[in-house]
Amino acid sequence: MAASGRERSRSPPPTAAGTRVKEIKVIGDSRVLIAPGLLEEIPSRLQSAGLKPAALVVVSDKTVDSHYGDRLVKAFETHASQNGGGPRILRYAFPSGESSKNRETKSAIEDYMLSNKCTRDSAILALGGGVVGDLAGFTAATYMRGIPVVQVPTSTMAMIDSSVGGKTALNVPAGKNLIGAFHQPKIIFADPSMLGTLSRREVVEGLAEAIKMGVIRDAALFQTMAKHPEAIMSLDAQLLQDVLHKAVAHKAEIVAIDEKETGLRATLNYGHTIGHAIEALVSPKMLHGECVAIGCVAEAELAHKMGHLSAEAIPEIRACFQAYGLPVAPPPGLTLEKLMEKMAVDKKNQGKTIRCTIITSVGSSVDHPLPVPREQMELVVSEMLKNPAVPPHGWQRAEQVDTLRQRQQDAAEKALEMAQRSVELQRDLSDSKGHAHQELQEQLVEQTEQQRKMELLREQYQMGVTPIVGVTVDGAEGIAETERGIESETMGSNIDTYCVVEVANKPYTRMQTGVLQAAFRKAYEFILNGTSLPAFQGAQPAWDYTGVVQDFAFGDVLKFAVYRKDLGVLRVSMALYQYMSNRKFQPSVPMRAEAALEEGLIKPEDAGKITTRDKNNNPPRIAIKTNDWDQPEIQLSTGASNQISYITPVVESEDIKAWLSLNVNFFSIIILFTAGGLIEFQRFFPDTLYW
Ligand SMILES: NC(=O)c1ccc[n+]([C@@H]2O[C@H](COP(=O)([O-])OP(=O)(O)OC[C@H]3O[C@@H](n4cnc5c(N)ncnc54)[C@H](O)[C@@H]3O)[C@@H](O)[C@H]2O)c1
Ligand SMILES: [Zn+2]
Repeated sequence: MAASGRERSRSPPPTAAGTRVKEIKVIGDSRVLIAPGLLEEIPSRLQSAGLKPAALVVVSDKTVDSHYGDRLVKAFETHASQNGGGPRILRYAFPSGESSKNRETKSAIEDYMLSNKCTRDSAILALGGGVVGDLAGFTAATYMRGIPVVQVPTSTMAMIDSSVGGKTALNVPAGKNLIGAFHQPKIIFADPSMLGTLSRREVVEGLAEAIKMGVIRDAALFQTMAKHPEAIMSLDAQLLQDVLHKAVAHKAEIVAIDEKETGLRATLNYGHTIGHAIEALVSPKMLHGECVAIGCVAEAELAHKMGHLSAEAIPEIRACFQAYGLPVAPPPGLTLEKLMEKMAVDKKNQGKTIRCTIITSVGSSVDHPLPVPREQMELVVSEMLKNPAVPPHGWQRAEQVDTLRQRQQDAAEKALEMAQRSVELQRDLSDSKGHAHQELQEQLVEQTEQQRKMELLREQYQMGVTPIVGVTVDGAEGIAETERGIESETMGSNIDTYCVVEVANKPYTRMQTGVLQAAFRKAYEFILNGTSLPAFQGAQPAWDYTGVVQDFAFGDVLKFAVYRKDLGVLRVSMALYQYMSNRKFQPSVPMRAEAALEEGLIKPEDAGKITTRDKNNNPPRIAIKTNDWDQPEIQLSTGASNQISYITPVVESEDIKAWLSLNVNFFSIIILFTAGGLIEFQRFFPDTLYW
């Protein structure tokens, strides 16, 4: 049963996740739906919206496709099987990044569709960030003179900005977005839970546009953003949905009034006059939203100089961008001349006059861009250039991120190898001291060579190539036994331990070792070999697990927790080898004992998988089986857990050197000290050449 748009917004249907869908009308029947969990509901919602193409071409980039492509296709298959059929699903994914947004990719999509006999009754579904949205949207606009497009934005930038409004385009050698069309999507599905796979930098980049929207039109939106930067950056569902809803509602309203950008819509370009000029000079090292943040602050100064804005508003605006870690000062190396030259070709200009969106307070602006006297602009830009700053994220090329991810994977494999090698070496050490010593010597020579390479690495690091951190969770020791524990071990029941590692405030970085029945195995040995009882004392699980910390930043807090499943409450203690920046090697750090945890959610079959916290933010727990007839078959464990945190040093330029060169030593330390076999930290750098 199809409801009208108005009815729908009064009583929006719940999603599978149980949250309310926010709906915003744009132009004609084009509308935006916002809710976590929408992805799975796309097939049914398309159907009830009357969109029933014969073929649906899912266009995506390879990164997004690898995260969400299968899920989306599966949703269509499930829907088709329950509803007696659905559209023929085709899938096309091109390499990620701005460099794909060109004529060649568009032609390739068209040829793919033609060879698959897509006719006018087809539709395109754009699954991805702004690049996918612009490109797939433009392809839909011209394929057989226009077929419907559905947008499924997956980046913050796309959800807040690019997917709404119908602008589509591609880049040509003469410039960005120069060839394109207006083509309104039928429906835009914004599912904020999909943002969880973006890096923080990418999340924040898009948020810059929401702050901008707050500054030009909505003081309340601005205040929300200024008050809750941490929660919003950590993708708090409620706040994020609120921010998306407000920002998108403004964009929709503006687009409805001025679809073809004759006046009001151009005000959305606040911060973009100066921002675009900077971007033209530093892209792709800095991202669009980062340049816009700098532009917004500078253009607030401009509004003040032109007499439209009070001086107090400027620090308020600056602080808000800063709270998100966005740059507010230009990067070093820019000149007034070059920036003015770039500004002269801005789309908003009329003839030679530069035009800018002028804000009048935090939350309001003049409803069309105003001409800006050249001297005034020069004054503002030269003042801005007096205080350059290296951007908070360094100089990482956005388009290198994918390559980096690949390298990180390689490095992770290398990490495993390293861990194995150190174990072998350690074995050698006990086998033959002399032999191992020689090998260690060779190792050290090799590492001196590496030190030189590390210098190169340092340079690379300063250019913004983020180091990656690998964590090897070798094992834990000193886990106290209870009588019941031993008893149940002997009986071969559930004494399972596992370790969970995550970066504080980044739940998506969670890694989990396998679940080990170490004590049980020992008990078994005891039965088989008649080993003496001390073998039980202190179950020492050895997980031998290595994983790479996603999205690592210096200063991050790594949290380790060891969970143990037991029938009673246990005392668990744990030691950790850690290497502090004060150069002292601390052999072990006792863990703080925590009270028994509440019931959790992990089933035995899920143990060992990387899992996220449940909705009450509980860590994963393991369910156990019971033979008690009165009890349900699955019971949740009441075992104990301990947790420790390791704060990675905050990096200063001088420290980087120390950090990197000490890192070399660190490996020898690992090799020498692995004997204790606890948790080791290893830092890995993206370029496998260095190994
Ligand atoms: N049409 C408009 O009105 C409009 C407005 C603003 C920007 N744009 C355009 O948008 C583009 C920038 O958009 P963008 O920042 O989304 O770039 P993008 O599409 O290149 O996405 C950035 C990166 O994030 C990855 N990614 C996207 N979603 C992900 C997810 N959920 N999980 C993991 N990785 C994910 C992508 O693969 C890509 O590597 C530019 O081309 C710009 O011109 C258009
Ligand atoms: Zn923008």
